[in-house]
Amino acid sequence: MKIRLTVNGEKCETDVWGGESLLFALREQLGLPGSKNACEQGECGSCSVLLDGTLVCSCLVLAAQADGHEVVTVEGVATDGALHKVQEAFVAAGAVQCGFCTPGLIVATVDLLEHTPSPSDDEIREALSGNLCRCTGYQKIFDAVRAAARA
Ligand code: FES
Ligand code: FES
Repeated sequence: MKIRLTVNGEKCETDVWGGESLLFALREQLGLPGSKNACEQGECGSCSVLLDGTLVCSCLVLAAQADGHEVVTVEGVATDGALHKVQEAFVAAGAVQCGFCTPGLIVATVDLLEHTPSPSDDEIREALSGNLCRCTGYQKIFDAVRAAARA
C-alpha cells in the first residue's frame, strides 16, 4: 500500500507491506538510518521518534498508521546543519559510547525538555525509563540532560 507522510518537515511517499513497521520504512525505504533497531519489541527505545509530537517506539507502529501523519526522527532535530543543544550536550558530557541507544535518547530528551524545560532527576529518570543503554551506566546521560536543560 502507498503511504504519504511528513518526515522531518519533508513530504514523503512510499510503498509498504501492511505489516511493516514505521522503523523499517524509515530506515530501509526513506533513507533515514538514525533510528536504531535494537530489539524490535518495544523494550529498548533506540527506535524512538515523534509521531505527531508524541514519543513512540517506531518498531511498534505500523508504517501504515503513519499515513497522513508527521514524524520527526533524530535526523530532524538538528537545524541548518547545526547540532541540537541536546546533541551537543551528549557529546560534551561523553554520554555516547557505542551510540546505539543515543538516537532514541536524543529524541526522548528533546521531547522531555519540550514539555519540562527544567526537569528534576526523577522526571529525567521517568522520561528516559524506556530507553536502555548497555554502555554508559546512565550517569553521563543524566549529566547531558541536565546540561541541555541549563542550555
Ligand atoms: S527497537 Fe524499538 S524499542 Fe527496541
Ligand atoms: S552508548 Fe552503547 S548502548 Fe548506550
